[in-house]
Amino acid sequence: MQAYIRQKYGGPEVLSLGKFHKPSPKPDQLLVKVKAVSVNPLDWHGLRGTPYLIRLSMGLFKPKNSFLGADVSGIVEEVGSAITNFKPGDEVYGEINESGAGSFAEYVCVRQDFWAKKPANISHEEAAAAPIAALTAIQGLRDHGGLKAGQKVLINGASGGVGTYAVQIAKAMGAHVTAVCSTHKVDQANKLGADEVVDYTKSDLSTLNAKFDLIFDGVGNCEAKIAKRLLKPGGTCLLVGWGGFKHMAKFVLANVLVGKKWNLTFFTAKMNLDDLAYLSELLSSGKIKSIIDKQYAFEQLPQAVAYQEDGHASGKVIVTVNKPEHSS
Ligand SMILES: NC(=O)c1ccc[n+]([C@@H]2O[C@H](COP(=O)([O-])OP(=O)(O)OC[C@H]3O[C@@H](n4cnc5c(N)ncnc54)[C@H](OP(=O)(O)O)[C@@H]3O)[C@@H](O)[C@H]2O)c1
Repeated sequence: MQAYIRQKYGGPEVLSLGKFHKPSPKPDQLLVKVKAVSVNPLDWHGLRGTPYLIRLSMGLFKPKNSFLGADVSGIVEEVGSAITNFKPGDEVYGEINESGAGSFAEYVCVRQDFWAKKPANISHEEAAAAPIAALTAIQGLRDHGGLKAGQKVLINGASGGVGTYAVQIAKAMGAHVTAVCSTHKVDQANKLGADEVVDYTKSDLSTLNAKFDLIFDGVGNCEAKIAKRLLKPGGTCLLVGWGGFKHMAKFVLANVLVGKKWNLTFFTAKMNLDDLAYLSELLSSGKIKSIIDKQYAFEQLPQAVAYQEDGHASGKVIVTVNKPEHSS
């Protein structure tokens, strides 16, 4: 099988396509034939080893894991002897969370813990788009943001991978959504159901004349002083995007200073089967859909990573790995 690997930290140019033996599943693993993967900021952070702090776990001078990639949709080809929930031929999607593996490959062996059957009414590309971005939106809005029906939420970065799901999920939760994006994505935000759209190239967030129960910052550039002005008393500003150490430090300090009046917080999404089941329900009922910006062939994967890293994707960036037989 073919898979992308890297031997050192760097940009997309350090990724090379190599030939490997097809892996064999351990008793608690599935062998999945990868049909599509999505690219997340997590992937290029891992590729570059930035912010440098992550090298404490990923390898100080060179990456411990040569493989890369997390979000996948594919078809179960073989199951280990202890697998009870899946059988060969099942269409599945999920996130790779094991050391020594990565989704930028034709086959992967995965534990069944973070996998679900792909909703039948969506494509492998639409399924691969969802795990990290949509679960981040679900957990951010519901668990960390405490969003309730009828409340007002401001979604910064509404046009990105996480943001396009966040707008739809907040609407599905019955919230009033104000989406923040650039000019050419205003239409998309409206179509996704945003009640109001702010074009950040034309108006500064600090000049907004509205109060929110929740600010979901999917960019990482909402300053604490602006958040305080925009939040209702008791409201929450949830930092989802990474805005750098300086921004994070100011945010944490501001949290100490504002006491209990506002809640300034951040979180890291964690894959779990209950939330994946909820995501499957949202996707199969059509309450939310995956917005795919660009779709690349497997040979173009480094270009897909470069495009994602550019930071202006309109939804998700997808790579098709094993094409359907009739189109290859
Ligand atoms: N906390 C977690 O567990 C978690 C999980 C997943 C991702 N993340 C983080 O969340 C962030 C977003 O991830 P993603 O996958 O959505 O990335 P993405 O697809 O690259 O989206 C980023 C979006 O930010 C928008 N943007 C850039 N500058 C902006 C500005 N000044 N104001 C408003 N929007 C702006 C861009 O839209 P325009 O083209 O319109 O500018 C783009 O659509 C990343 O920092 C990522 O690392 C965190």
